[in-house]
Amino acid sequence: MIKIIPEVKKLEIENKEIYIEGIVILGDISAFSKKELENFIAKKTKYKIDSNGYQIIFGIKGNANAEWYQIEMTENQMSVFAASEEGIFRAVQTIKQILCQKLYVLKIEDEPANNFRAFMLDVGRYFYPIEDVKTIVDYIALYKFNYFHIHLTEDQGWRFESKLYPKLTIKGCKRSHTNFGFKKEEGFYTQEQLKELVDYCHKRYIKVIPEIDMPGHTMSALACYPELSCFDRKLKVSTHWGIKFDIMCAGKDFTYKFCKDIIDELCEIFTDEYIHIGGDEALKLRWSMCEHCKKKLAELELDNMEQLQIYFANYMADYIAQKGKKTIMWYNKYNEKDKIVPNKDIIVQFWGTRKDKEFCKVVESDRKVITSNSSGYYIDLPYGYITLSDSYNTQGITGLENAGKLFGYETCLWTEYVKDIEKAKFNMFPRVFAISEIFWSGEGKRDYNKFLEKLPFNVDFVAKFGVKVPRKGIYNPNKIRKFFSKLWFEKRQLVWQGLYLTVDNFLLKQKIKRKNKK
Ligand code: ACM
Ligand code: ZN
Repeated sequence: MIKIIPEVKKLEIENKEIYIEGIVILGDISAFSKKELENFIAKKTKYKIDSNGYQIIFGIKGNANAEWYQIEMTENQMSVFAASEEGIFRAVQTIKQILCQKLYVLKIEDEPANNFRAFMLDVGRYFYPIEDVKTIVDYIALYKFNYFHIHLTEDQGWRFESKLYPKLTIKGCKRSHTNFGFKKEEGFYTQEQLKELVDYCHKRYIKVIPEIDMPGHTMSALACYPELSCFDRKLKVSTHWGIKFDIMCAGKDFTYKFCKDIIDELCEIFTDEYIHIGGDEALKLRWSMCEHCKKKLAELELDNMEQLQIYFANYMADYIAQKGKKTIMWYNKYNEKDKIVPNKDIIVQFWGTRKDKEFCKVVESDRKVITSNSSGYYIDLPYGYITLSDSYNTQGITGLENAGKLFGYETCLWTEYVKDIEKAKFNMFPRVFAISEIFWSGEGKRDYNKFLEKLPFNVDFVAKFGVKVPRKGIYNPNKIRKFFSKLWFEKRQLVWQGLYLTVDNFLLKQKIKRKNKK
């Protein structure tokens, strides 16, 4: 048996073992992929690179899917054909796993069932040094993801260097303390570092989607530029998790200018086709109190503040379209019959559970939809909430008949409670194994028992890359362990600052009342 994750589309294997010592890589393969494979062989397998060794020969062969490849392994040689350099890179990932197992005469043909397989890292809550971000990219490359979504800004930290708004990374990238104690937390990426990151991903055939969350989750920006908020308030970079009451004002011209300027800077660095504008969890509390927002609503003749947010998103999406790019945003409630609905070319990303009627309606309305089903693909959640088997068995959408209508799949690693790469690895593995198989091999191929048979080999395989996968009792916990795992996570309720927000809101209302009386 050969144990490849994600499962390949077709595998024929003969009971004929192959014995080799040295390996030579030949044929049509990019210098980067060749070096990758040679380094892997030399450092992580028992074989040597030897010009007289067993030949792995690469070639290009036409196929409609750029990621398609085939591998034919005989006693004499391994021949690999792929539709493109990208396909060769994916094949190399499979070959790495093959070379760490007993070798047999075999034939593989493979291609992804889904062309959008994304992994999201939130570097806003906790800053991850750029080297750690690259390590995470290495991991997702091994498991054939092809998009890296980097959530660059949050209430708790702004990580993107802006030359136009320097305060964002002087002040906005620092919080005085965190969920984990009275320790400062800070950091940002220079534009130069981000360009390098994009290049790093591209070499691995991973496209990058940068996200600037707007208008909500922006306390770090409001703290630097109070004029972005509805009442020009002096605010602080948030210390703790939770949905905040203050968001960017949708009535002031400055907000629109600020966001467009940031998009301009972003597009210079992130050269791929998608820009993510967030849009999640934007409470309308301030907007409904704000003269600027109310005036804007009246001018636009909209019915409510939710529609104002759709207007705001469409405005940004139009701007992004002018720059030749496409917009992704988190789903916001709307009705197709509303005065205003999201532009048809905006890709909508859902994170609710897929039994959700709204989700199915949007999928059926022929919009492009990404599923990040939070009952399986939200791997920030502890194993007590999302076990390995949940990640494997969670459907992107309820009812496989709709699966073909999905534009893409994305797993999200939020970091409110994932403070560094060690915890990130713990949360990722083994769930990323399961998710990669759903995303690459497709929902129809799901076979949990077979997956479990392949798991121990993959645990050993990632150990070569510094990942220690937790044991079964942790990733598929019993009831007691589940309870404690949830309890650990839910201690966050004690620090979400709800009381602080309620008092702050009350005081603001009083202040407005007094001002109106004058
Ligand atoms: C989200 O989970 N707020 C996108
Ligand atoms: Zn406002």
